[in-house]
Amino acid sequence: MANNQKILLKNRPDAIPVPSDFELVETTVPTAQQGEILCKTEFLSLDPYTRGQINGRHISGAIHPGDMMRGETVSEIVQSYHADFKVGDIVKHFGGWQSYSMSDGTGMQKIDTRISPRSLALGILGMPGLTAYAGLVHLAQPKAGDTVLVSAASGAVGSMVGQIAKIMGCRVIGIAGQSRKMDWLTDVAGFDGCFNYKNEDPALAIKRLCPDGVDVYFDNVGGDILDASMNQLALGARVILCGLMAQYNTDSPPPGPNPGTIIRARATVKGLVVYDHFDKQTAFLDKATNWINSGQIKFVEDVTEGLAHAPEAFCRLMAGGNFGKTIVKI
Ligand SMILES: NC(=O)c1ccc[n+]([C@@H]2O[C@H](COP(=O)([O-])OP(=O)(O)OC[C@H]3O[C@@H](n4cnc5c(N)ncnc54)[C@H](OP(=O)(O)O)[C@@H]3O)[C@@H](O)[C@H]2O)c1
Repeated sequence: MANNQKILLKNRPDAIPVPSDFELVETTVPTAQQGEILCKTEFLSLDPYTRGQINGRHISGAIHPGDMMRGETVSEIVQSYHADFKVGDIVKHFGGWQSYSMSDGTGMQKIDTRISPRSLALGILGMPGLTAYAGLVHLAQPKAGDTVLVSAASGAVGSMVGQIAKIMGCRVIGIAGQSRKMDWLTDVAGFDGCFNYKNEDPALAIKRLCPDGVDVYFDNVGGDILDASMNQLALGARVILCGLMAQYNTDSPPPGPNPGTIIRARATVKGLVVYDHFDKQTAFLDKATNWINSGQIKFVEDVTEGLAHAPEAFCRLMAGGNFGKTIVKI
């Protein structure tokens, strides 16, 4: 048996990683003991979240200098002393960046035989595909006729988002950064349109391609493209924050709210305009007058006497000098 080749992290990069941040080492291939499985790697998945592990800020944990790089693999079992797996089984597990991996079977799955070619088990029929499906179908819930905008559109996640949205009857616009990706999106994947964010101002391009607004924005990148998309949302739009390609290679998050905090908490952020809720006025008053009369709700008013003092009271309000609801008694 050949040696086991492994890739270790050598340095923690603070920008776009370069090959010298990694190191190839060779070790002997271990022998499986009772309860263990030895796997020969057939395919290794490389995923953007690994960049977050290298930075030590991904929810799945950190990769430190000297550690072997982590990653999901499709592997063939070459030795097995485990009741559930036999030699020749093709499995998916976190084998890491190495040519052979040892496992006790934890988290190991046999590849569904409908998956062909088998590499798809790591891509559009694996974790990235499920990400697209769950985010689009379950979280965004697009309706036929909706305009769906997706960034990093030619990748495993983005291409599935766009194509599933097309199957659901949506109009789909993709964002990508290379002309060969743009050609593929429209000519092969059936997107209705796309633009290259490196050649065209995203704000103008999104307005041009989504003139009636964006009903679903599936964000894989964050940064300026997220900002531009937010300015063209249609009423009732859904924004799915999935990934942050624009900030993975930096050590410091961008100014303003960090979408990463929303992703980490699986939070829902909703826009509120009270005009949409006037039908609840009677129900609100029925409850709230009782709460005030029973003392369950307290209130403070900041009352200024005389209309002439209204400007001064308003300025005080805007400077934070008020305490409670600002009222002018005329
Ligand atoms: N939330 C989750 O659970 C979850 C799960 C899986 C994946 N994800 C996220 O989904 C996204 C896509 O993943 P993938 O595996 O399908 O990768 P991918 O789309 O194949 O690769 C990432 C693409 O992002 C684009 N990109 C890179 N830097 C960019 C920047 N600064 N601004 C805009 N675009 C940039 C590049 O394409 P261009 O040439 O078009 O720039 C690159 O090809 C990633 O953000 C990933 O972290 C999230």
